[in-house]
Amino acid sequence: MQKNSRWHTLETAEQVAEAACRQILNTAKSAISEHGKFKLVLAGGGTPEKVYRLLAESNADWANWHIYYGDERCLPADHQDRNSLMASRVLLDKTAIPANQIFTIPAELGPEQAAESYRLTVAEAGAFDMVLLGMGEDGHTASLFPGHQHPQDELVHAVYNSPKPPPERVSISARALSNTRELIFLVTGANKQEAVKLWRSGSDLPVASIVPENPVDIYIDSDAFKP
Ligand code: 6PG
Repeated sequence: MQKNSRWHTLETAEQVAEAACRQILNTAKSAISEHGKFKLVLAGGGTPEKVYRLLAESNADWANWHIYYGDERCLPADHQDRNSLMASRVLLDKTAIPANQIFTIPAELGPEQAAESYRLTVAEAGAFDMVLLGMGEDGHTASLFPGHQHPQDELVHAVYNSPKPPPERVSISARALSNTRELIFLVTGANKQEAVKLWRSGSDLPVASIVPENPVDIYIDSDAFKP
């Protein structure tokens, strides 16, 4: 488990979303005042949707937000299962974040081409200000799955044979996801209990491979965390 990780256990998924939203907005303010922009990596899957809805209702200095994605599914850009489609519908289309500051993974090009293209984007981004991540029932995060091997020095991986459909994906690497000032994990639901237990007991899961310099914040509801 990440050293000094901060576990924030809240009763409900709604409270998890509210607490995470507050931290994101605070970090955005301090990042923009310190270096003029807020470089945020969005999580995929369903858990972050509640957070994105709350962010969309907030007042933020959107003109200085720069949006990246931790991973994307290799599906057509308008496919309902695209992480970018959910984020656009629920958050990005409702804010004044300039389109040229939203860096969508071109996953419709297929794993290799999209990964190659996004490596340049991640290299240009440098260190992120905040990374948001979810966790799957098997302890995966982004599209980093147990048992998958990737070149350690890659910034972005082409992913094949994903156990979570679709089989082909693109994922920012553990190394690049760890290159961030702050990092939030969002974990809710009873179906995550087993993976949380393994994570907390020190199992070598993909979630445990994300090791920024600063402690990570794990926002978890009472369904997912049974002490
Ligand atoms: C994806 C996500 C993936 C997700 C976890 C949790 O593209 O599927 O990046 O890593 O975060 O599988 O998904 P839920 O939030 O839907 O449980």
